[in-house]
Order: sequence, then structure tokens, then C-alpha cells
Amino acid sequence: MGDKMSQYFENDLHLKSEIQPYKTKIFDKEFTFLTDNGVFAKKGLDFGSRLLLENLEQEDMKGPFLDVGCGVGTLGIILNQVYGLEGDMVDINLRALHLAKQNCKANHCESLNVYESNCYQNVDGKYRLILTNPPIRAGKKIVYEILEQAKEHLEKDGTLYFVIRKEQGAKSIISDMEKSYHVTIIERKKGFFIVKCKN
Ligand SMILES: C[S@@+](CC[C@H](N)C(=O)[O-])C[C@H]1O[C@@H](n2cnc3c(N)ncnc32)[C@H](O)[C@@H]1O
Repeated sequence: MGDKMSQYFENDLHLKSEIQPYKTKIFDKEFTFLTDNGVFAKKGLDFGSRLLLENLEQEDMKGPFLDVGCGVGTLGIILNQVYGLEGDMVDINLRALHLAKQNCKANHCESLNVYESNCYQNVDGKYRLILTNPPIRAGKKIVYEILEQAKEHLEKDGTLYFVIRKEQGAKSIISDMEKSYHVTIIERKKGFFIVKCKN
């Protein structure tokens, strides 16, 4: 192995696998997720992902949904179990996708589709709801691609939700999104912004 640390979005076949479960409670329901080295997030439900889920507005909870950069499947699985929404989950990280499929089975979400896609490359459907906790470490170009190209995959009344941190350039990303969408900041907490974008 090289001396470079691998990033959670890279397919590093040499990275030792240490699959571990974690439990998390949200909306009064308990979920178990398998996670591993080299996937996001290893220690439990990410604060930003939780904040995003807790601030989704009821009126937008209509499927089908797409989770771009699904990791081990947390957002989609919780949406399915809490709101009964069906949808697709995509990621570029094969190890994360493998776990997302197992997590779907373990959390009774076999109807969700999990597949590999670099941003929207393999996505051709339209969605009522797109959500993402975007891969900041993959760089600005990828983050913008995920946020801006969501527009092409949203149904007419569709909504994009994302979470972003202040120190990750939240303010400039939000003002750039205002060029393409009607943007509302739904929540701000501990430097995290939850952002809702409508066409
Ligand atoms: C911050 S994590 C969020 C994971 C999960 N949605 C959650 O909330 O726990 C971002 C995810 O984006 C994925 N990702 C990175 N680059 C990508 C790309 N070009 N296309 C699709 N997914 C990508 C990473 O592998 C990672 O799983």
C-alpha cells in the first residue's frame, strides 16, 4: 500500500476490511448499519446526515427519491422506513455499495435500488426528491456536478435537499445554487446548513 491515506470515495482494494455494525435511533426507530474502513461514516450516523433527515419537510416526502453519494445507505433506508418512500441510491464507492445492499436487506428495504454511478452517469430517471450529503473531499467540481445536475433529474415539482458545513464554503455554494434554483435554508445548527432547492 502507498503511504497516501485513502479517501472514503476511492475504491482502494488494498484497504483492510473490518466490517462493523452500528445502531442508531432516529424518529423513534432503531436501525442497524454495517460499515467498514474506507466508507462514510464509520462511527455512526453522521451529524449532518441526521440533521438533514430531521429537517426534511413533510410536504416534500414523496417518491421516487434519489440519494446521490449514498454511502452505506443510511439516508435512503431511513426515508423508506419512516416515510415509506421508494427510490434509488447511487455511489462511486463499491465497498459502500456492497454494504448499502446488505443494509437494505437487514433493514427490510429490499425494494430500494442500489447501483454504481459517478454522479448521474448511470442515472436516467426523474425523481420527486433528490437528497445528498455531498462528498466535499472529492472536490468542488464533483460537489457542484451533484448539486447543479440534480435539476435535470428532478420532476417538475421536485425538490433537492442537501447538507453543507460553513467551513466547507456553505455560503458561496448556497449563493451559487440561487442562480439555478429557488433556495431556502431550512436549518442552521453547529455550522451545518440544511438547504432546500426547488426548480
Ligand atoms: C459525505 S458521504 C455521504 C454518505 C451517506 N449519504 C450518508 O449520509 O451517510 C458522500 C458519499 O459520496 C460518495 N461519492 C464521492 N464521489 C462521488 C461521485 N463522483 N459520484 C457518486 N458518489 C460519490 C462517497 O463515496 C460517499 O459515500
